[in-house]
Amino acid sequence: MSDNRSSGKNTLSIRDNRTGREYEVNILDGDVIHAMDLRQIKVDETDFGMMTYDPAYTNTASTRSAITFIDGDEGILRYRGYPIEQLAERSSHLEVAYLLLKGELPTQSQLDGFVHDVTFHTYVHENITELLEGFRYDAHAMGMMISGISALSTFYPEAKNVHDPDSRWQQVVRIIAKMPTLAAYAYRHHRGLPYNYPENELSYTANFLNMLFRVGTRKYQPNPVLERALDILFILHADHEQNCSATAMRVIGSADSDPYSAMAGAMGALYGPLHGGANEAVLRMLTRIGTVDNIPAFMEGVKRREERLMGFGHRVYKAYDPRASIIKRTADEVFQVTGRNPLLDIALELERIALNEDFFVERNLYPNVDFYSGLIYQAMGFPVEMFPVLFAIPRAVGWLAQWEEMLEDSEQKIARPRQVYTGAAERDFVSIENRG
Ligand code: CMC
Repeated sequence: MSDNRSSGKNTLSIRDNRTGREYEVNILDGDVIHAMDLRQIKVDETDFGMMTYDPAYTNTASTRSAITFIDGDEGILRYRGYPIEQLAERSSHLEVAYLLLKGELPTQSQLDGFVHDVTFHTYVHENITELLEGFRYDAHAMGMMISGISALSTFYPEAKNVHDPDSRWQQVVRIIAKMPTLAAYAYRHHRGLPYNYPENELSYTANFLNMLFRVGTRKYQPNPVLERALDILFILHADHEQNCSATAMRVIGSADSDPYSAMAGAMGALYGPLHGGANEAVLRMLTRIGTVDNIPAFMEGVKRREERLMGFGHRVYKAYDPRASIIKRTADEVFQVTGRNPLLDIALELERIALNEDFFVERNLYPNVDFYSGLIYQAMGFPVEMFPVLFAIPRAVGWLAQWEEMLEDSEQKIARPRQVYTGAAERDFVSIENRG
């Protein structure tokens, strides 16, 4: 294959050495060719045509998107063009949610309206509460969340009108509003505590903390440092372009499924320890390592590939995850209020070794968003089972923005990859007594 940059043409010439034929395909913006342009490459007319084979989509763009930009080599993350560092410092989660969903930062009145709408949709139907009651006392919070969100589709059947923008927006507001309520109820169920109803005069994160931690009828006022820290963590987790769960959301949504059902699928993807479940896995790993003295033996096990250093590595980032740098700074502020998490020393030493040892350096394994977030959550009083839930609440925004964009994109259709069949050729059925 050769491209034509020297000739000034934005095309790619392909020579098929099986047939000697030559093809020219257009290069779209960003060194991309359209996979369907390869279909014309055939040995003869009966041939299906050339496809690409890309398990895990490591080199395939599934969409054009204007939501989130990542430069993995430089460690850059931007939402709608705004650097994540500026948003984390100067914005709020609901303002960022508006930005991600609508494409522009809101005016004051737009923001006030959005905050009002989200605040007044935080209640869930009492039947949802009863549904959550049906779970065992030790049910994982993420399993309860997935069930809760999917159950919501039965309360809002109009959510099936996925091609009606007004109906879509109503579901978007409901989902962003109700995620913290579901999460808090899952937590209280686990603790055997009565549920706290949402309080409308509190901020998004203060209301969440109130539903989680208020005991009795005492007025609850969260520490402002912790309220802000949680808001920053929510901003950092709000979207991350075409990751596993966003792709799940788009794929399910491409069948015109309602957003609650699609969200349940996306949350299932997020739950996995290689994705949003990594923050829980990091905490369990740090606890298991126990002391700094045990680190060398643990790292030898990682190098022997007996296990992974959770919270390290990323498909896209080949540099320090910019979210991890912000979280590390936020952790210092949180620990001034809560006291230092004793596992921090282990985490810092793991990072120091990983950034200096060949095994990790050669593979570009840097801390990702999940490495330090769990230390903050634990210091704030969250049990580890809540960690993936704390990822899911803000990521709901990203999933919904990706879903909206997919439905508005005239190039998208129902997602349906091809396969390379490797099974048996046609053969006749063998009756059971003749099978050896
Ligand atoms: N510990 C040890 N080795 C690792 C790790 C790790 N955490 N991550 C990757 N490697 C090695 C891997 O063994 C492979 O080595 P080799 O080329 O010698 O076989 C090489 O690095 C490339 O790894 P990969 O598995 O091909 O990379 P990937 O892009 O498929 O996987 C990942 C990305 C995030 C799943 C992986 O790095 C991982 O499992 N990390 C730990 C789990 C984790 O922290 N996940 C959270 C990701 S950030 C939050 C989110 O967006 O979901």
